[in-house]
Amino acid sequence: MRIVVLTGAGISAESGLGTFRDEGGLWAQHRLEDVATPEAFARNPALVHQFYNARRQQAAEAQPNAAHKALARLETALGDSLLLVTQNVDDLHEQAGSQNVLHMHGRLSGALCHACGHRWTAPLEMRPDDTCPSCRETATRPDVVWFGEYPHGLDFIEEALSSADLFASIGTSGQVYPAAGFVMQAGRYGADTVQLNLEPSDTSNAFNETRLGKASEIVPLWVDEILKH
Ligand code: OAD
Repeated sequence: MRIVVLTGAGISAESGLGTFRDEGGLWAQHRLEDVATPEAFARNPALVHQFYNARRQQAAEAQPNAAHKALARLETALGDSLLLVTQNVDDLHEQAGSQNVLHMHGRLSGALCHACGHRWTAPLEMRPDDTCPSCRETATRPDVVWFGEYPHGLDFIEEALSSADLFASIGTSGQVYPAAGFVMQAGRYGADTVQLNLEPSDTSNAFNETRLGKASEIVPLWVDEILKH
């Protein structure tokens, strides 16, 4: 059985990382136009670094929860038949043991030089006057995908969706495209579709099945069911 799993901020909520759109979420505390666009970075790189430095610090202190661990278990059983795509910029899937994770919105642990394209491991704190270790330009940025930029791996994901038997979406509000459209793509290609979320997402109607609850409780049960078949 070929499975594509998409995860969002909800899977890391019980690890202590705030989601974006729940009450008191990150986008209630910050205007995304001020911290998560290329224009914001051009205008005020110090503010954007401050936002991502705080998130990198929080992520460094977080531990994976039972939902991340269950998906690592699924990978051990299914190998290449599982594609795990995450919108999350934390590394909790990897910390739980997943080895093959497609971070379509990039990673907090990465730094990118927008002058030469070089990538390296981000220090805990990035600053506007940091220089690229390859070309020495002060053009370094977090290796995350901002609004208005192109997510990673879309062709690869489309290909996986086209041959998937099952598409599962976990802990995402379904408000940000193209990820929110994966359920429609998978459905058109004939895959069964299930969402596991605290509450119905914006794309609930597109799923064959909805399971509501905390990720740490419902994801391990769902993985157990898959592995029994
Ligand atoms: P959101 O904050 O939009 O949605 C989080 C979802 O997780 C909501 O539907 C919650 O109901 C659900 N949730 C909360 N706690 C949960 C729990 N314990 N168990 C299960 N579900 C839970 O986050 P995303 O959908 O990931 O992009 O946001 C998508 C993208 O928008 C992010 O990758 C980010 C953001 O702006 C960029 O920054 C480019």
